[in-house]
Amino acid sequence: MNNFTFLNPTKLLFGEGQVANVGREAAVFGKKVLIVTGGGSVKRSGLFDQVMDHLKRERLAVYELAGVEPNPRLTTIHKGIEICKTEGIDLVLAVGGGSVIDASKAICAGAKYDGDVWDFYIGKAVVEKALPLGVILTLAATGSEMNGGSVVTNWETQQKLSTGSIHLYPKFSILDPTLTYTVPKDQTVYGIVDMMAHVFEQYFSHTENTPLQDRLCESVLNTVIENAEPVLKNPEDYEARSNLLLGGTMALNGMISMGMEGDWATHGIEHEVSAIYDIPHGGGLAILFPNWMKYVVDERVEKFKQFAIRVWNVNPSGKTDKEIALEGIEKVREFFNQIGAPSRLKDYDIDDLNLDLMAEKAVEREGTIGRFKKLTKEDVKNILTMSL
Ligand code: NZQ
Ligand code: ZN
Repeated sequence: MNNFTFLNPTKLLFGEGQVANVGREAAVFGKKVLIVTGGGSVKRSGLFDQVMDHLKRERLAVYELAGVEPNPRLTTIHKGIEICKTEGIDLVLAVGGGSVIDASKAICAGAKYDGDVWDFYIGKAVVEKALPLGVILTLAATGSEMNGGSVVTNWETQQKLSTGSIHLYPKFSILDPTLTYTVPKDQTVYGIVDMMAHVFEQYFSHTENTPLQDRLCESVLNTVIENAEPVLKNPEDYEARSNLLLGGTMALNGMISMGMEGDWATHGIEHEVSAIYDIPHGGGLAILFPNWMKYVVDERVEKFKQFAIRVWNVNPSGKTDKEIALEGIEKVREFFNQIGAPSRLKDYDIDDLNLDLMAEKAVEREGTIGRFKKLTKEDVKNILTMSL
């Protein structure tokens, strides 16, 4: 494995009833809290009122930014930064899914910066300080609750870009599985795909001698796969929801791939698709990932073979390594189909019109994308074409 430094400063409060601690956790950072929410799910569920009660009990002054979009938009983030600067906010509290958390991270960074927060996403500036962030997570998917990443869409330029910083890790994250009971079936499916995709991005690596990391990755995948069906059958299955919630967090908090070089091409390509078509992130990944796998399998067949045997129980007897590897990839597609994820870009009415543009934008920054196989514009276009 490679040398590495590891630090994850996020405090997790996991389990039913943990929301009651939000007031105490928030009060550590000062008196003025900006609550950030999405399109209304937390108000409909009653969570928002509960959180307000807990904050008021600690005599905190609460401000609100509602309406963060799925695939959060820069324009909404600007509104949040404005509130922080004019009101002197001490803590931003994200209550929602990955989009609300990512928007909140941008607000935290922008509130302590004189230029435009977009500078951090286009690589013009590096986050050197940020307001503290607290999180109450309502959807198991992105891992944003325990990492320093943030993905934002600039609708004017049709760019969906990410930034990351140690300053953007939440100070605390409250994860109560019962808050995810109301997540609709399609979003639950997208979340399952997203967390699995995060593991794929780290697992398919050329870094040698990573037995512990490989087994950690496989164990997250096995856990997510085992708990998918129970959650889809019974959305209020506490144990299954808990396992998915922890699975999503573990999939992208840095723990499972210490000292490994990740790939991240499929995420980059998906972000180009959703920057133009505004499709759900997990839906895009379900379409693209099996095709990326098929396209790059020859880079390291033995890793795909291990994946097929250990994660998908493919019987290796009488088969070549490549056949075993391809059977494993087929199992990924079958599983995504079985849980009801989309399999073709056509499912979102996407045709070949913008394939060239998306491929061009995917490699814009570095000339290629991904590390497991460095994909050129042509490669990206081929993967997109396979996905039509
Ligand atoms: O907006 P509201 O009304 O809250 O509804 C949301 C939204 O419509 C709904 N929802 C969330 N919790 C719910 C609920 N509905 C009912 N009950 C609940 N408990 O679900 C919809 C989707 O929410 P969103 O936050 O957009 O989903 P997700 O958590 O999948 O986040 C997706 C965003 O995260 C980015 C994606 O690109 C995308 O923009 N990512 C962030 C990453 C990170 N920061 O580390 C990594 C990921 O790879 C990903 O790129
Ligand atoms: Zn993702």
